Amino acid sequence: AFPQRVKVVEVGPRDGLQNEKSVVPTPVKIRLIDMLSETGLPVIEATSFVSPRWVPQMADHTEVMQGINKLPGVSYPVLTPNLKGFQAAVAAGAKEVSIFGAASELFTKKNINCSIEESLERFSEVMNAARAASIPVRGYVSCVLGCPYEGKISAAKVAEVSKKMYSMGCYEISLGDTIGIGTPGSMKEMLAAVMKEVPVGALAVHCHDTYGQALANILVALQMGVSVVDASVAGLGGCPYAQGASGNVATEDLVYMLNGLGIHTGVDLQKLMDTGTFICNALNRRTNSKVSQAACRL
Ligand code: HMG
Ligand code: MG
Repeated sequence: AFPQRVKVVEVGPRDGLQNEKSVVPTPVKIRLIDMLSETGLPVIEATSFVSPRWVPQMADHTEVMQGINKLPGVSYPVLTPNLKGFQAAVAAGAKEVSIFGAASELFTKKNINCSIEESLERFSEVMNAARAASIPVRGYVSCVLGCPYEGKISAAKVAEVSKKMYSMGCYEISLGDTIGIGTPGSMKEMLAAVMKEVPVGALAVHCHDTYGQALANILVALQMGVSVVDASVAGLGGCPYAQGASGNVATEDLVYMLNGLGIHTGVDLQKLMDTGTFICNALNRRTNSKVSQAACRL
Protein backbone atom coordinates (compact mmCIF):
# COMPACT_ATOMS: atom_id res chain seq x y z
CA ALA A 1 0.00 0.00 0.00
CA PHE A 2 1.16 3.51 -0.74
CA PRO A 3 1.62 6.10 2.01
CA GLN A 4 -1.26 8.59 2.31
CA ARG A 5 1.07 11.54 2.28
CA VAL A 6 4.61 12.14 1.13
CA LYS A 7 7.05 14.73 2.40
CA VAL A 8 8.82 16.22 -0.62
CA VAL A 9 12.31 17.51 0.16
CA GLU A 10 13.33 20.12 -2.40
CA VAL A 11 17.07 20.01 -3.02
CA GLY A 12 17.27 22.22 -6.13
CA PRO A 13 18.94 25.28 -4.56
CA ARG A 14 21.73 23.01 -3.25
CA ASP A 15 22.03 19.82 -5.32
CA GLY A 16 20.60 21.59 -8.37
CA LEU A 17 22.92 24.57 -8.35
CA GLN A 18 26.15 23.19 -6.83
CA ASN A 19 27.24 21.81 -10.19
CA GLU A 20 26.53 24.91 -12.33
CA LYS A 21 29.62 26.02 -14.23
CA SER A 22 29.04 29.76 -14.05
CA VAL A 23 28.33 31.24 -10.66
CA VAL A 24 24.63 31.84 -10.15
CA PRO A 25 24.09 35.33 -8.69
CA THR A 26 23.09 35.25 -5.03
CA PRO A 27 19.85 37.23 -5.63
CA VAL A 28 18.75 34.55 -8.13
CA LYS A 29 19.31 31.84 -5.52
CA ILE A 30 17.39 33.83 -2.94
CA ARG A 31 14.50 34.44 -5.34
CA LEU A 32 14.45 30.73 -6.23
CA ILE A 33 14.19 29.70 -2.57
CA ASP A 34 11.56 32.35 -1.85
CA MET A 35 9.45 31.14 -4.78
CA LEU A 36 9.85 27.52 -3.63
CA SER A 37 8.71 28.58 -0.16
CA GLU A 38 5.42 29.80 -1.65
CA THR A 39 4.64 26.45 -3.30
CA GLY A 40 3.82 24.61 -0.07
CA LEU A 41 7.02 22.55 0.04
CA PRO A 42 7.79 21.62 3.68
CA VAL A 43 11.58 21.31 3.29
CA ILE A 44 13.92 23.31 1.05
CA GLU A 45 17.62 22.49 1.23
CA ALA A 46 19.11 25.93 0.86
CA THR A 47 22.89 25.69 0.46
CA SER A 48 26.09 23.98 1.67
CA PHE A 49 28.65 25.04 4.24
CA VAL A 50 31.45 23.27 2.41
CA SER A 51 34.84 24.51 1.31
CA PRO A 52 34.51 27.23 -1.37
CA ARG A 53 37.65 25.77 -2.93
CA TRP A 54 35.85 22.46 -3.42
CA VAL A 55 32.46 23.83 -4.44
CA PRO A 56 32.76 27.50 -5.47
CA GLN A 57 29.07 27.70 -6.33
CA MET A 58 28.07 27.41 -2.66
CA ALA A 59 30.53 30.07 -1.43
CA ASP A 60 27.70 32.54 -0.83
CA HIS A 61 26.05 30.24 1.74
CA THR A 62 25.87 32.88 4.48
CA GLU A 63 24.37 35.54 2.18
CA VAL A 64 21.79 33.04 0.95
CA MET A 65 20.79 31.95 4.44
CA GLN A 66 20.47 35.53 5.58
CA GLY A 67 18.74 36.78 2.45
CA ILE A 68 15.88 34.29 2.19
CA ASN A 69 12.45 34.82 3.65
CA LYS A 70 12.07 31.87 6.01
CA LEU A 71 8.43 30.94 6.23
CA PRO A 72 7.11 29.40 9.44
CA GLY A 73 6.52 25.69 9.01
CA VAL A 74 9.15 25.37 6.29
CA SER A 75 12.60 24.07 7.14
CA TYR A 76 15.75 25.14 5.33
CA PRO A 77 18.47 22.55 6.03
CA VAL A 78 22.04 23.02 4.81
CA LEU A 79 24.90 20.59 4.20
CA THR A 80 27.66 20.53 6.81
CA PRO A 81 30.55 18.08 6.22
CA ASN A 82 32.37 18.83 9.46
CA LEU A 83 32.36 20.93 12.63
CA LYS A 84 33.72 23.98 10.83
CA GLY A 85 30.79 23.87 8.40
CA PHE A 86 28.34 23.26 11.22
CA GLN A 87 29.53 26.27 13.18
CA ALA A 88 29.39 28.52 10.12
CA ALA A 89 25.89 27.24 9.35
CA VAL A 90 24.59 27.96 12.83
CA ALA A 91 26.20 31.40 12.79
CA ALA A 92 24.33 32.08 9.55
CA GLY A 93 21.04 31.11 11.15
CA ALA A 94 20.60 27.48 10.07
CA LYS A 95 18.09 25.59 12.22
CA GLU A 96 18.68 22.20 10.62
CA VAL A 97 21.71 20.58 8.97
CA SER A 98 22.63 17.51 6.96
CA ILE A 99 25.74 15.41 7.13
CA PHE A 100 26.67 13.47 4.01
CA GLY A 101 28.46 10.16 3.86
CA ALA A 102 28.59 7.36 1.32
CA ALA A 103 28.59 3.60 1.02
CA SER A 104 31.71 3.80 -1.17
CA GLU A 105 35.28 4.40 0.05
CA LEU A 106 36.49 5.95 -3.19
CA PHE A 107 33.51 8.28 -3.51
CA THR A 108 33.96 9.40 0.10
CA LYS A 109 37.60 10.18 -0.64
CA LYS A 110 36.77 12.15 -3.81
CA ASN A 111 33.81 13.97 -2.28
CA ILE A 112 34.92 14.83 1.25
CA ASN A 113 38.58 13.79 1.21
CA CYS A 114 38.56 11.09 3.88
CA SER A 115 37.71 7.43 4.47
CA ILE A 116 34.25 6.27 5.52
CA GLU A 117 35.61 5.64 9.02
CA GLU A 118 37.07 9.16 9.26
CA SER A 119 33.86 10.64 7.89
CA LEU A 120 31.86 8.98 10.66
CA GLU A 121 34.24 10.48 13.25
CA ARG A 122 33.74 13.95 11.77
CA PHE A 123 29.99 13.39 11.71
CA SER A 124 29.89 12.40 15.35
CA GLU A 125 31.53 15.75 16.21
CA VAL A 126 28.78 17.48 14.25
CA MET A 127 26.14 15.31 15.98
CA ASN A 128 27.44 16.26 19.43
CA ALA A 129 27.45 19.96 18.62
CA ALA A 130 24.00 19.69 17.03
CA ARG A 131 22.57 17.85 20.02
CA ALA A 132 23.89 20.56 22.34
CA ALA A 133 22.24 23.21 20.14
CA SER A 134 19.00 21.21 19.64
CA ILE A 135 19.53 21.17 15.88
CA PRO A 136 18.05 18.22 14.00
CA VAL A 137 20.43 16.42 11.65
CA ARG A 138 19.57 14.59 8.46
CA GLY A 139 22.02 12.02 7.10
CA TYR A 140 22.76 11.29 3.46
CA VAL A 141 24.24 8.05 2.25
CA SER A 142 25.51 8.38 -1.33
CA CYS A 143 26.19 5.70 -3.93
CA VAL A 144 23.48 3.38 -2.59
CA LEU A 145 22.85 1.81 -6.00
CA GLY A 146 26.30 2.21 -7.52
CA CYS A 147 29.43 4.33 -7.43
CA PRO A 148 31.14 6.25 -10.24
CA TYR A 149 34.53 4.97 -8.99
CA GLU A 150 33.82 1.53 -7.48
CA GLY A 151 30.92 0.36 -9.62
CA LYS A 152 28.63 -2.03 -7.78
CA ILE A 153 27.97 -1.35 -4.11
CA SER A 154 26.52 -4.09 -1.93
CA ALA A 155 23.19 -3.59 -0.19
CA ALA A 156 24.87 -4.83 2.98
CA LYS A 157 27.37 -1.94 2.87
CA VAL A 158 24.56 0.58 2.38
CA ALA A 159 22.68 -0.93 5.33
CA GLU A 160 25.81 -0.80 7.49
CA VAL A 161 26.59 2.88 6.83
CA SER A 162 22.89 3.83 7.12
CA LYS A 163 22.62 2.07 10.46
CA LYS A 164 25.72 3.85 11.78
CA MET A 165 24.44 7.27 10.77
CA TYR A 166 20.98 6.55 12.15
CA SER A 167 22.43 5.26 15.44
CA MET A 168 24.44 8.48 15.72
CA GLY A 169 21.17 10.38 15.94
CA CYS A 170 20.19 11.38 12.41
CA TYR A 171 16.39 11.65 12.41
CA GLU A 172 16.25 10.67 8.75
CA ILE A 173 18.54 8.84 6.34
CA SER A 174 18.34 9.90 2.71
CA LEU A 175 19.50 7.13 0.39
CA GLY A 176 21.21 8.68 -2.62
CA ASP A 177 21.38 7.09 -6.03
CA THR A 178 24.08 9.62 -6.85
CA ILE A 179 24.58 8.54 -10.46
CA GLY A 180 21.01 7.46 -11.15
CA ILE A 181 22.14 3.99 -12.14
CA GLY A 182 19.64 1.96 -10.10
CA THR A 183 16.57 0.17 -11.37
CA PRO A 184 13.39 -0.85 -9.54
CA GLY A 185 15.07 -4.25 -9.04
CA SER A 186 18.20 -2.93 -7.33
CA MET A 187 16.19 -0.32 -5.40
CA LYS A 188 13.98 -3.04 -3.97
CA GLU A 189 16.92 -5.22 -2.93
CA MET A 190 18.81 -2.30 -1.35
CA LEU A 191 15.77 -0.99 0.54
CA ALA A 192 14.92 -4.44 1.88
CA ALA A 193 18.43 -4.64 3.37
CA VAL A 194 18.38 -1.11 4.82
CA MET A 195 14.87 -1.53 6.29
CA LYS A 196 16.22 -4.33 8.49
CA GLU A 197 18.50 -1.78 10.18
CA VAL A 198 16.63 1.53 9.99
CA PRO A 199 12.85 1.97 10.42
CA VAL A 200 11.20 2.78 7.12
CA GLY A 201 9.62 5.89 8.65
CA ALA A 202 13.13 7.33 8.97
CA LEU A 203 14.11 6.67 5.35
CA ALA A 204 14.08 8.95 2.33
CA VAL A 205 15.07 8.27 -1.26
CA HIS A 206 17.19 10.67 -3.31
CA CYS A 207 17.13 9.65 -6.95
CA HIS A 208 19.13 11.23 -9.73
CA ASP A 209 17.61 10.60 -13.14
CA THR A 210 20.73 9.93 -15.20
CA TYR A 211 19.40 6.65 -16.61
CA GLY A 212 15.75 7.73 -16.67
CA GLN A 213 14.84 5.38 -13.81
CA ALA A 214 14.12 7.86 -11.04
CA LEU A 215 10.30 7.85 -11.03
CA ALA A 216 10.16 4.07 -11.37
CA ASN A 217 12.63 3.68 -8.51
CA ILE A 218 10.64 6.12 -6.37
CA LEU A 219 7.42 4.21 -7.07
CA VAL A 220 9.03 1.02 -5.75
CA ALA A 221 10.24 2.86 -2.64
CA LEU A 222 6.71 4.20 -2.03
CA GLN A 223 5.30 0.69 -2.35
CA MET A 224 7.77 -0.43 0.29
CA GLY A 225 6.57 2.29 2.68
CA VAL A 226 9.04 5.12 2.12
CA SER A 227 7.22 8.46 2.49
CA VAL A 228 9.99 11.03 2.11
CA VAL A 229 11.30 11.81 -1.38
CA ASP A 230 14.01 14.27 -2.45
CA ALA A 231 13.62 16.13 -5.74
CA SER A 232 14.97 19.14 -7.58
CA VAL A 233 12.86 21.75 -9.34
CA ALA A 234 13.25 21.54 -13.13
CA GLY A 235 15.42 18.44 -12.56
CA LEU A 236 18.48 20.60 -12.06
CA GLY A 237 21.74 19.33 -10.78
CA GLY A 238 24.36 16.69 -10.25
CA CYS A 239 27.27 16.10 -7.95
CA PRO A 240 30.57 17.77 -8.90
CA TYR A 241 32.42 14.68 -7.64
CA ALA A 242 30.36 12.24 -9.71
CA GLN A 243 31.17 13.04 -13.32
CA GLY A 244 28.31 12.60 -15.75
CA ALA A 245 25.69 12.44 -13.02
CA SER A 246 22.65 14.45 -14.09
CA GLY A 247 20.00 16.12 -11.99
CA ASN A 248 17.59 14.75 -9.46
CA VAL A 249 14.11 13.67 -10.41
CA ALA A 250 12.23 16.87 -11.27
CA THR A 251 10.01 17.98 -8.39
CA GLU A 252 7.24 18.84 -10.89
CA ASP A 253 7.26 15.26 -12.23
CA LEU A 254 7.29 13.75 -8.74
CA VAL A 255 4.36 15.90 -7.59
CA TYR A 256 2.45 15.09 -10.79
CA MET A 257 2.89 11.36 -10.15
CA LEU A 258 1.94 11.67 -6.48
CA ASN A 259 -1.15 13.71 -7.41
CA GLY A 260 -2.12 10.95 -9.80
CA LEU A 261 -1.79 8.37 -7.03
CA GLY A 262 -3.95 10.49 -4.74
CA ILE A 263 -1.02 10.95 -2.35
CA HIS A 264 -1.08 14.25 -0.48
CA THR A 265 1.99 16.53 -0.67
CA GLY A 266 0.62 20.00 0.02
CA VAL A 267 2.56 21.30 -2.99
CA ASP A 268 0.93 23.56 -5.59
CA LEU A 269 2.04 22.13 -8.95
CA GLN A 270 1.35 25.30 -10.92
CA LYS A 271 3.45 27.44 -8.57
CA LEU A 272 6.17 24.82 -8.75
CA MET A 273 6.17 24.94 -12.55
CA ASP A 274 6.35 28.74 -12.45
CA THR A 275 9.40 28.42 -10.19
CA GLY A 276 10.95 25.98 -12.66
CA THR A 277 10.38 28.47 -15.46
CA PHE A 278 12.00 31.21 -13.38
CA ILE A 279 15.20 29.27 -12.67
CA CYS A 280 15.47 27.90 -16.22
CA ASN A 281 15.17 31.41 -17.62
CA ALA A 282 17.78 32.66 -15.15
CA LEU A 283 20.17 29.84 -16.13
CA ASN A 284 19.22 30.12 -19.79
CA ARG A 285 18.36 26.48 -20.17
CA ARG A 286 15.53 24.12 -20.94
CA THR A 287 13.74 22.39 -18.08
CA ASN A 288 14.38 18.70 -17.41
CA SER A 289 10.83 18.32 -16.12
CA LYS A 290 8.73 16.30 -18.55
CA VAL A 291 5.58 17.70 -16.97
CA SER A 292 6.74 21.27 -17.59
CA GLN A 293 7.76 20.45 -21.15
CA ALA A 294 4.31 18.99 -21.76
CA ALA A 295 2.47 21.83 -20.10
CA CYS A 296 4.37 24.37 -22.19
CA ARG A 297 2.63 23.00 -25.27
CA LEU A 298 -0.88 23.23 -23.82
P1 HMG B 1 39.79 19.13 3.17
O1 HMG B 1 40.60 19.92 2.20
O2 HMG B 1 40.16 17.71 3.43
O3 HMG B 1 39.63 19.91 4.56
O4 HMG B 1 38.29 19.20 2.67
P2 HMG B 1 40.68 20.22 5.69
O5 HMG B 1 39.99 19.94 6.97
O6 HMG B 1 41.98 19.55 5.41
O7 HMG B 1 40.85 21.79 5.53
C1 HMG B 1 41.45 22.38 4.39
C2 HMG B 1 40.97 23.80 4.25
O8 HMG B 1 39.55 23.81 4.04
C3 HMG B 1 41.21 24.65 5.50
O9 HMG B 1 41.42 25.98 5.06
C4 HMG B 1 39.88 24.56 6.20
O10 HMG B 1 39.66 25.66 7.05
C5 HMG B 1 38.91 24.57 5.05
P3 HMG B 1 42.88 26.62 5.02
O11 HMG B 1 43.37 26.56 6.44
O12 HMG B 1 43.68 25.76 4.09
O13 HMG B 1 42.63 28.00 4.49
N1 HMG B 1 37.62 23.97 5.40
C6 HMG B 1 36.42 24.54 5.18
N2 HMG B 1 36.08 25.72 4.63
C7 HMG B 1 34.77 26.00 4.56
N3 HMG B 1 33.79 25.18 5.01
C8 HMG B 1 34.10 24.01 5.58
C9 HMG B 1 35.47 23.66 5.69
N4 HMG B 1 36.11 22.58 6.18
C10 HMG B 1 37.41 22.79 6.00
N5 HMG B 1 33.13 23.21 6.03
C11 HMG B 1 35.92 19.15 2.96
C12 HMG B 1 37.26 18.54 3.36
C13 HMG B 1 34.83 18.24 3.50
C14 HMG B 1 35.82 20.53 3.58
C15 HMG B 1 35.87 19.24 1.42
O14 HMG B 1 36.16 18.00 0.88
C16 HMG B 1 34.54 19.72 0.91
O15 HMG B 1 34.15 20.85 1.12
N6 HMG B 1 33.78 18.85 0.20
C17 HMG B 1 32.46 19.22 -0.26
C18 HMG B 1 31.97 18.24 -1.26
C19 HMG B 1 30.56 18.58 -1.67
O16 HMG B 1 30.00 19.58 -1.29
N7 HMG B 1 30.00 17.70 -2.51
C20 HMG B 1 28.66 17.86 -2.99
C21 HMG B 1 27.62 17.54 -1.97
S1 HMG B 1 27.37 15.79 -1.74
C22 HMG B 1 26.22 15.35 -2.97
O17 HMG B 1 25.96 16.11 -3.86
C23 HMG B 1 25.50 14.03 -2.83
C24 HMG B 1 24.07 14.17 -2.31
O18 HMG B 1 23.29 15.00 -3.16
C25 HMG B 1 23.40 12.78 -2.21
C26 HMG B 1 23.54 11.96 -3.50
O19 HMG B 1 23.13 12.44 -4.59
O20 HMG B 1 24.05 10.86 -3.39
C27 HMG B 1 24.05 14.79 -0.90
MG1 MG C 1 22.38 14.38 -4.97
